[in-house]
Amino acid sequence: MRGRGLWGVFRQRLRRLGFGANEYLISQQHLQIRAMSGDLAVVAKDKEASSKGTMQTQITTDPPRGTRDFPPEDMRMRTWLFDKFREVSRLFAFEEVDFPMVESEDLYTRKAGEEIVGQLYNFEDKGGRKVALRPELTPSLARLVLQKGRAQSFPLKWFAIGQCWRYERMTRGRRREHYQWNMDIIGVPGVEAEAELLSAIVTFFTKLNITSDDVGIKVSNRKVLQAVLEKYDIQPDSFAAVCVIVDKLDKLPREEIESELDKAGVPSVAIEGILQALTLQSFDDLEALIGAESGAVAELKQLFALAEGYGIQDWLRFDASVVRGLAYYTGTVFEAFDKEKKLRAICGGGRYDRLLSTYGGQDTPACGFGFGDAVIVELLKEKKLLRAFPHEVDDVVMALDDSLKIPAAGIASRLRSTGRVVELVIEKGKKMKWDVLCDGFVELWSVVWLDPSFPVFYSAAFSITSQTIVI
Ligand code: HAM
Repeated sequence: MRGRGLWGVFRQRLRRLGFGANEYLISQQHLQIRAMSGDLAVVAKDKEASSKGTMQTQITTDPPRGTRDFPPEDMRMRTWLFDKFREVSRLFAFEEVDFPMVESEDLYTRKAGEEIVGQLYNFEDKGGRKVALRPELTPSLARLVLQKGRAQSFPLKWFAIGQCWRYERMTRGRRREHYQWNMDIIGVPGVEAEAELLSAIVTFFTKLNITSDDVGIKVSNRKVLQAVLEKYDIQPDSFAAVCVIVDKLDKLPREEIESELDKAGVPSVAIEGILQALTLQSFDDLEALIGAESGAVAELKQLFALAEGYGIQDWLRFDASVVRGLAYYTGTVFEAFDKEKKLRAICGGGRYDRLLSTYGGQDTPACGFGFGDAVIVELLKEKKLLRAFPHEVDDVVMALDDSLKIPAAGIASRLRSTGRVVELVIEKGKKMKWDVLCDGFVELWSVVWLDPSFPVFYSAAFSITSQTIVI
């Protein structure tokens, strides 16, 4: 039912009862009045302070560069996004975990020349310990798996949503803090684990109405590069460093990559072979290069076969140029990208079977992905798939007379005990403005007017049960 008709009747009756238009109120207006009076109070205080010579330095009201505030309108969208992350994780029977925002710095100081290490927000705490704000969640997850030890029943299927900090160069969708949704499977050596993760990512995209026309997922396997390095007799201990270098191919000129590989001790004939291998996009070409019996080919083929079972094959494509910039990946690697190529990677992940042993544990099969909150929002905006996130309440309860505040509180409590979201108007002496009420809201909602001379609204409020108002 539309509101205006009924409000018109209410207004007429209230006018007959002698109420002027400004004596009825409504929340939008309310908030404005409150903000204005807040400002006035600050101005008055400043004047007082300056006349006494005690004026403080003005602070900047912007958050530090690359970071964000989340005022209610942004927080509503963030909550919605995180709810989707959680919904999908639970569909796949993953359990939620969390870790501290500050970790010991040595959890991150790997030596393969990764960008992420140079971007650490690190410092000494008051006890002289070297700590860092976490730039990602995977090392914390590995630490927790190690701490809990073998007593747990594997596989572990864990998800987490946490804020990460990287001192990045800011670009669209890349900032100095971001939230990351991670799903990880610990204890499954086969690509069945990767297939589950890829299916979860596609389920998430589908829930947001993103299709395989909008987004693709490039999949490869670091064993491809490993096989190429073996062909040229390159020592396995330079493998991680080579991966980190070639991952920068789309950011740096080819000559710079070649010179970095040269510095890492890769002979020029091998450099040519490596860069050539990264251009492969078909299994036939891959087999021709590293042999049909290679482990990388077998894993990739099995993963793509499983993807057909899940019905997600249209989303995936084999692309050997995906290597990923983190040192710890050992097998499958993947990254989701927007097909218009306007944005940075939407999410990325892979297999890291040896990370736990680098922390002193045993090699443990593991794979997972990280999915940021920033690029996906940019994509939803691009595709016009981002809906509005208004503040929604079911009922507004207000007393038009001070003497009715106590019954108003009782009514609000009764409505809230049934699960309804109730805005109880508590501001003293403020009146909602009738016209704003009528013009600002589309749907009819229940408003409990506690008016001594107008008892009909009591019962009206209780007969309206299902509408939601937007304020
Ligand atoms: P990553 O590729 O560094 O992987 O980050 C994963 C995702 O986090 C990116 O695809 C992007 O969505 C988001 N992201 C990363 N940095 C930023 C940034 N500066 N601003 C906004 N968003 C960003 C990892 O972090 C791995 N630990 C993922 C993983 C989990 N691998 C296995 N398990």
